Amino acid sequence: MVSTLVGILAGALALLAAWWIVCGIILPGRELLVVLRRIAEGDFRPVILPTVPSYFRNAEADLRKISETLASQKSLLAEEEFSLSMILGSMAEGVVILGPDLRVRELNRAAISLFNLGSTVQGLLLTEVFTSHELQGLASRACRTGEFQRGELTLTIHGRADRCHLAVTAAPLKTSSGEGSDGVLLVLHDVTRLRELEAVRREFVANVSHEFRTPLSVINGYLETLGEGGVGRDMMRKAIAAMQRHTGRLNRLIEDLLSISRMEEKGVRLETEKTDIAPILKTVLDQTEQEISERKATVCISLAEGLPSAHLDAYRIEQAFSNLLVNALRHGIPSGSSDTAKVMISAFPSGSDLAVSFRDNGPGIPLADQEHVFERFYRVGGDRARQSGGTGLGLSIVKNVIQAHGGRVSIESSPGEGSIFTVYLPAA
Ligand SMILES: Nc1ncnc2c1ncn2[C@@H]1O[C@H](COP(=O)(O)OP(=O)(O)OP(=O)(O)O)[C@@H](O)[C@H]1O
Ligand SMILES: [Mg+2]
Repeated sequence: MVSTLVGILAGALALLAAWWIVCGIILPGRELLVVLRRIAEGDFRPVILPTVPSYFRNAEADLRKISETLASQKSLLAEEEFSLSMILGSMAEGVVILGPDLRVRELNRAAISLFNLGSTVQGLLLTEVFTSHELQGLASRACRTGEFQRGELTLTIHGRADRCHLAVTAAPLKTSSGEGSDGVLLVLHDVTRLRELEAVRREFVANVSHEFRTPLSVINGYLETLGEGGVGRDMMRKAIAAMQRHTGRLNRLIEDLLSISRMEEKGVRLETEKTDIAPILKTVLDQTEQEISERKATVCISLAEGLPSAHLDAYRIEQAFSNLLVNALRHGIPSGSSDTAKVMISAFPSGSDLAVSFRDNGPGIPLADQEHVFERFYRVGGDRARQSGGTGLGLSIVKNVIQAHGGRVSIESSPGEGSIFTVYLPAA
């Protein structure tokens, strides 16, 4: 009887112990393990274990702390990553991040569009993406020496017609221990436009010097002759006339250059008024009358019905039209030809524009020269055309004046068939 009672008691105690082990240790332990796995998998939601017994509370608090720390570090990292990608994305310079093996790790939008890189290039070698030994040289030197490298290179870029000039900085990336290299950061600045402008400026200075040198050396020559004394009256008259002609040419050059630079200045202010074209054409004709009669040229004006008026700066437009008319008179007949120039000026509506064309019966302009005649100092036929006495700035002025009015100029010409310069101005 007693032994039965002891047996029942021992059984009950064993059941109680088993129940306590399951509910007090195994189940809370499993709960903790589930939370641990959740944290390990990157889920940092707050840790709440309402059912764990009090002796697991410390472990629960530690888990909560770990979870919170990891969550805040994760959000810090995400913020940093976001700002880094924002900075890289908004940079005008191309940025390429290379690994220590000089394979592309990362590159920004500017680099992709600068090099017309269509498909993904991450993981490729630098030389596979940019076929430039100089770029490769800069990057590997930065990686090897751990020092900044700078250089300027000229590259041919797929899909770009002209060569591209790049200013490159290669910055070594140090490992977190500070020893050795963890790769290279390349910053690529497209300086093509800058170099082109420098070339234009150099060419411009050379052209201006050349244009000034000719009249100056003529004037100098005559001054030396006069200075030697014993010059007859006829020679003196000839010398003075030549010097006047050449100082006049210098004057025109300066006037034209000033005119162009004023027009090219940003925000040039035109004094426009709603104006009819007929009185402007009449003024231009009056101003050119002497040249027309000296050349025995014929100039006709044709005004279409219902011509719209336009908002024009009359002085500037007269300047542009005079240039076009004088060109038609001077270049509109081959030099040495016995022909006289016949110029037809027509004004007509064209869509929403008022168009004015200047047609001549001259030799025309070869197709290859047509896109260049509006450039400063450009003359068809080079030095031979320079002899005609012009400065080579007239059409550049015309283009500037018309563009400042929101209009455009076109050329139609084929060799031997004359030229037509047409100006389109927005109608009022
Ligand atoms: N109507 C035309 N027919 C043929 N060639 C022309 C005509 N108009 C211009 N050209 C060519 O274009 C060149 C540039 O003309 P532009 O008016 O700019 O300079 P320019 O007439 O030589 O000098 P200027 O500055 O005195 O006008 C001329 O030198 C000439 O070779
Ligand atoms: Mg001209």
